[in-house]
Amino acid sequence: MRAGRQPSLTLRSTLAFSVVAMLAVASAGMYLYETMKDAVMTRTDHAVLARLDHFRKLLQYDLTLDKLQGSPQLFENMLDSEDDIFIITEPDKPPVIMVNPLHAPLPLTPVVPTNAPLSVADMRSGELASGVPMRAATVEVMSSGRRVHLTAAHIAVKEMATLANFRNRILSSVALAFVLTAVLGYVLLRRGLRPLRRMASHAAAITPARLESRMDNRDTPVELQQLGDAYNAMLDRLADGYQRLTQFSADLAHEIRTPVGSLMGHCQVALRQARTADEYQALLASNLEELERISRMVESILFLARADDAQAALNRQTLDMAQELQRVCGYFEGLAEERQLIVNTCGDARLSADPLLLRRALSNLVANAIRYADEGSMIDIRVLEGGGECRIEVENQGPVLSESTLGKLFDRFYRGDASRHQSSDSNGLGLAIVTAIMQLHGGAATVEQPAPGRIRFALIFLKPAAR
Ligand SMILES: Nc1ncnc2c1ncn2[C@@H]1O[C@H](COP(=O)(O)OP(=O)(O)OP(=O)(O)O)[C@@H](O)[C@H]1O
Ligand SMILES: [Mg+2]
Repeated sequence: MRAGRQPSLTLRSTLAFSVVAMLAVASAGMYLYETMKDAVMTRTDHAVLARLDHFRKLLQYDLTLDKLQGSPQLFENMLDSEDDIFIITEPDKPPVIMVNPLHAPLPLTPVVPTNAPLSVADMRSGELASGVPMRAATVEVMSSGRRVHLTAAHIAVKEMATLANFRNRILSSVALAFVLTAVLGYVLLRRGLRPLRRMASHAAAITPARLESRMDNRDTPVELQQLGDAYNAMLDRLADGYQRLTQFSADLAHEIRTPVGSLMGHCQVALRQARTADEYQALLASNLEELERISRMVESILFLARADDAQAALNRQTLDMAQELQRVCGYFEGLAEERQLIVNTCGDARLSADPLLLRRALSNLVANAIRYADEGSMIDIRVLEGGGECRIEVENQGPVLSESTLGKLFDRFYRGDASRHQSSDSNGLGLAIVTAIMQLHGGAATVEQPAPGRIRFALIFLKPAAR
């Protein structure tokens, strides 16, 4: 299982953060580096221009070329280091003065005419073989009637060293940013995801016997709070379902035990002595009745179990409800007459539902109404359509029920006191089946008391558009 798992979220996020931090620091560093390089080169340019300007004035007004040639220390002092180049020539003659300690090749520079202003635009760039850049410019000056060219240049050796140093620092910062974000991000993310690990260990400890335990979501971050709440809600539902299942098995055992006990009792009594054929026949008939009830119960339980599995595929058909009501009422006519009940039906609709299941749900409601209605009262069956749903209501006059009893009617094996004592063939599964059928159809079954003693059951089907 573990071999094929995905890389950890913490690791992936940490790496992503680190790369972003690294890129941010690198871009800031690059920007600063370029700005600094520009500033350094501008300063170099100005130094070269200032030097040329200075010597131009010197040669034009104060010094002669011969004097300058005689005292080279004069300008040597004025040059900073071996990075500075200074050349004085007369056109078409060998250089008068040549200071170029590194013997650097100079770029071709335009000659700025006498008295014309000097600017950065007159400068040209060159490069040493080692790649170090240089800036140079040339001016013309008339010194004591001689035409002289002054060329000055600066090789940015020191500047490039400073910039290289700066670049190294930027690279170290980028690496540091990567490492720091990685470490910090990892620690923070691990801390942030702690609730997830807690949830995993909590989930691992859940067993049917420990379904009651819930996760403490108080110090969970907002993003995981939802997951934590959903997880706890899921446990609530599971615990509820499990509890119902346990209750159902207990009820089932209890419900089956009674008729089986009574069957055994009858047989034991009959076997104590010899009986006449009539007596055996009567016993068999009463046993058969009991067995039929057990069989109905088993069939109902099987139905509910299948509906729970949601395996039962619906065979939806468009049904004419008026016709369906007539069919069910016809079926219960005899029983209704026996109790002097009047059954009224009204309304019509077209409904898409599984015909067998719909008839079964409807019959369960009508059978209940006929069984539990006050003798000689009226039963109203209505089909109502509107608001995106179709309702089938079955209403009868019966006992006044408390709110808590109403809430339990749809529970499996729930039987009202009256039915428990009166009829032996009541299993308390009819309404549970109605609920299951309605759930299969994506609808609902409800019960309400519009007036004391009036009890109204409704099957609510959602129209396809609303479903
Ligand atoms: N129309 C009704 N009027 C009054 N009480 C009702 C009505 N329908 C159901 N009940 C009450 O609800 C209980 C549960 O009904 P349900 O149909 O689930 O079971 P049952 O009728 O007792 O048995 P089964 O339908 O399995 O034979 C009934 O025992 C009865 O007390
Ligand atoms: Mg019933």
